[in-house]
Amino acid sequence: MSRTNAKPPAAAGTARPAKASRPAEDAYPGSSGEGVLFSLGKVVEQRDGITAGHCERLALTAAALGVAMGLDEASLLTLYLGGFLHDIGKVGIPDAILFKAGPLTEEEWDAMRTHPARGESICRPLKSFRAVLPLIRSHHERMDGTGYPDHLRGEEIPLLARVLQTVDIYDALTNTRPYKEPCTRQRALEILEEEAACGWRDPEITSRFVGLNRRVLEKIRTYSRPAAATSMRRSLNNLQQLLAS
Ligand SMILES: [Fe+2]
Repeated sequence: MSRTNAKPPAAAGTARPAKASRPAEDAYPGSSGEGVLFSLGKVVEQRDGITAGHCERLALTAAALGVAMGLDEASLLTLYLGGFLHDIGKVGIPDAILFKAGPLTEEEWDAMRTHPARGESICRPLKSFRAVLPLIRSHHERMDGTGYPDHLRGEEIPLLARVLQTVDIYDALTNTRPYKEPCTRQRALEILEEEAACGWRDPEITSRFVGLNRRVLEKIRTYSRPAAATSMRRSLNNLQQLLAS
């Protein structure tokens, strides 16, 4: 999440031995290009002054909410990828804006609001990231049409973008950023409910998130390990075991 600027209301020739096939869990994402993008996601995490582990935590929490909503595995994988990549367009935002401790000017906000479209443009050439593009582009839309970049309303906003957005806001509120102190988990949930009540957030998704087992959220919050693209399916398996425990 970034700031909020207002308050509610991927030769033929000599025969070679056949290569061993990739393990299933390493099949996605499967190219070095995608690995580079994951690394870029980590760069954004570091450059944004966000604590290490933000991407992994966000990815897992978004997938957890997806599990709670009964979403299929493809959607969970998309949410997981979105957790890493949604803010990748921030690589194009000047340091003076990204690191500014005080409020942004309207001109600076205009620059900041370009990051979803920039991110979509960066990821668009990679075929296996196609499903993530709507999350990257639309994670700052609002249900009442006052978000950006497309001023989408209600269900025009892709479902998974609405899911990721809910988790992104919660994570931003409960963690220190260059421009603010963290608030308590309880207060963060209240703010989400206030933003749903004033027409910004999806009320059903917000309600699902607020109702998500507090113990699960706390376990994910403390879940920390080196993030690697190839660990994605393993992480999701761990998550599903966690939710079942
Ligand atoms: Fe963002």
